[in-house]
Amino acid sequence: MGLVNALIRVTYWLIYRNLTYLAINILAMTTLIPLSLYIHFPWCIRKCPYCDFNSHALKQDLPEEDYIKALLADLQQDLSLVQNREIVSIFMGGGTPSLFSPQAIAYLLSQIKQMLPCSPKLEITLEANPGTVEQDRFKGFYQAGINRLSLGIQSFQDDKLKTLGRIHDANAAVRAVLATKQAGFTNFNLDLMFGLPKQEIDDALYDLNTAIALEPTHLSWYQLTLEPNTLFYHQRPTLPADDKIWEMQQQGQALLAKHHYRQYEISAYSREGFPCLHNRNYWEFGDYLGIGAGAHGKITDSNTQQVIRTHKAKHPKDYLDPNRPFIAGQIKVPANELSFEFMLNNLRLKQAVLFNLFEQRTFLAKTVLTASLQKATELLFIEQTRQGFQVTELGWQFLNNLMEIFLP
Ligand SMILES: C[S@@+](CC[C@H](N)C(=O)[O-])C[C@H]1O[C@@H](n2cnc3c(N)ncnc32)[C@H](O)[C@@H]1O
Ligand code: SF4
Repeated sequence: MGLVNALIRVTYWLIYRNLTYLAINILAMTTLIPLSLYIHFPWCIRKCPYCDFNSHALKQDLPEEDYIKALLADLQQDLSLVQNREIVSIFMGGGTPSLFSPQAIAYLLSQIKQMLPCSPKLEITLEANPGTVEQDRFKGFYQAGINRLSLGIQSFQDDKLKTLGRIHDANAAVRAVLATKQAGFTNFNLDLMFGLPKQEIDDALYDLNTAIALEPTHLSWYQLTLEPNTLFYHQRPTLPADDKIWEMQQQGQALLAKHHYRQYEISAYSREGFPCLHNRNYWEFGDYLGIGAGAHGKITDSNTQQVIRTHKAKHPKDYLDPNRPFIAGQIKVPANELSFEFMLNNLRLKQAVLFNLFEQRTFLAKTVLTASLQKATELLFIEQTRQGFQVTELGWQFLNNLMEIFLP
């Protein structure tokens, strides 16, 4: 009798467990994947020697009207990818979107809002260069509906700005932040870089302290990297030694934490409640439409359970050529690469990696991760929980090695 009862209990437990698992999966599959919109603006006043973004020094007048028209036509062609979803964020990046007039940005946004259903909490970011600031211009962006400004400060020291080939000096950087606040922005980011030529630890801390005093809601603090296809790659400046950069990072992180800037991603720090929703959607392997020269998109087709990557014509001349299509390429991500792609993004975030997010975004069962998770656990890179895993301090230090464990 005892044995029969035990068997019945085990059977019930197995059915219960499988049904729960099935229910979680159905829920995961039917929950909509958040959708963002990225808009690329490919011109700058001057090309910075370290920058490998798709940005071109402006040699003639800005083709503002033609470009806005092209962006809207490009979006029109992408509408079938929306699949009845609301847009959760818009990011106008570059290049230097702040070269465009507030009127052009206002028109673009009003048209987008007519074409796409937008979340009532829509985050709309515009990247601005402190060298393109006038008070009225920033007010105009605010009135156009931009509710988050991201300023490319890089440093608050004149000699560093000069080495970086920036078009602004330290005073202009501070003025740009003050103009941002005066224009009404309560949510804004400052981009800073560290590990700069001739930079000492105190210089990096000075930049952070100056930024903190200006009270941004968000700070992006990037280590300078020498990227192929940049002037710095071919005419390499001498950078601080690795141990100095390491110390800079440790002291900088401690300073930011002391001032309540929580690190939530490799290079991103925010005050409570102000992470960048747009970037977080990338790192959570959410979907995004990409319009504009060279813009990339990622779309999940829930019917075929496939992830599609798109990219648009890269050179502004080609993008604006009416005889050429906007779309320059579209690929289906092979199923065996999805785990790695998910981890490449999600492991950038400090929060735990969750199995239900993994399953929803990749359509793969968490069991495909078993061997990689075991290896990462043995190396003490992660600690596993029932819902997923948390990267350890060691794993965080060897993040690239940890990511590689998930390669197909
Ligand atoms: C596309 S730029 C946008 C801001 C705007 N174009 C500007 O520079 O003022 C985004 C940010 O990436 C960072 N960045 C660009 N190239 C980098 C590099 N080689 N290493 C580290 N950070 C870099 C800079 O902080 C820059 O502000
Ligand atoms: S202004 Fe920004 S996008 Fe333009 S070249 Fe410099 S870093 Fe790159």
